[in-house]
Amino acid sequence: MSLEQLYRRRLSRNWRDRLARLLEPPAPFIMNPAEPKNFPLGRWNLYLGGAGRTVAGYVNLDLLAIPGVDVAADAQQLPFPSALFARVECDAVLEHVRCPDLVMREIERVLAPGGYLHLVTPFCHPFHEYPRDYRRFTPDGLKSLAPNLTVIAEGWRTGPTATLLVFTIEYAKLLLPWRAWRVAAHGILGWLLFPLRYLDLLLLRSPRAHRIGNHCYLWLQKPG
Ligand SMILES: C[S@@+](CC[C@H](N)C(=O)[O-])C[C@H]1O[C@@H](n2cnc3c(N)ncnc32)[C@H](O)[C@@H]1O
Repeated sequence: MSLEQLYRRRLSRNWRDRLARLLEPPAPFIMNPAEPKNFPLGRWNLYLGGAGRTVAGYVNLDLLAIPGVDVAADAQQLPFPSALFARVECDAVLEHVRCPDLVMREIERVLAPGGYLHLVTPFCHPFHEYPRDYRRFTPDGLKSLAPNLTVIAEGWRTGPTATLLVFTIEYAKLLLPWRAWRVAAHGILGWLLFPLRYLDLLLLRSPRAHRIGNHCYLWLQKPG
């Protein structure tokens, strides 16, 4: 299935797709409650890679021109004037672009002085192509991409249990030869294992959580 078909399915009203959404297990992760979220939005805010989502208050830019996307473009070459956006959200996108340095330079350019950038990237996470998958990041690796921005918060969004659960489910699917079985395993294991995700409420407090953390985040600010 292509990425476009996948996103269209998520929005589809067809009864089969609705039923599939109903049976879909809860996510095998919880968000770290300590991650700050309350940095101000401005008049113009940019959400990178928001296909398949509704992102109220943001200009939604993605490669794919599908409903919900306001601007179809490549984040490596943003079609906006400099210093326009008060906030840029870049969640699980940098691992999918060929040149993250270019994207970061473009984000820096379009951020207004004093504006905020929220970066989220996977560290221990299975291969997933949207539409390609080039790399993984550590917090230090992310910081090295943004030497001109000030780090104002950093940490782990999803923790060690999330890592364990997503890999366990992928591993089980690897053992199954037929797609229908893999879909069933995804559903059954997803429903059985998801309560374990709450262990991360404890583990995310450990100073060693980063050793097998799932996704890390940075909040950065452009000097103003
Ligand atoms: C893993 S999804 C993340 C979606 C969303 N941020 C979320 O957390 O659910 C990555 C998204 O980035 C988009 N993307 C990949 N490369 C891109 C690029 N060069 N420019 C703009 N968007 C891109 C993909 O089309 C996809 O919708």
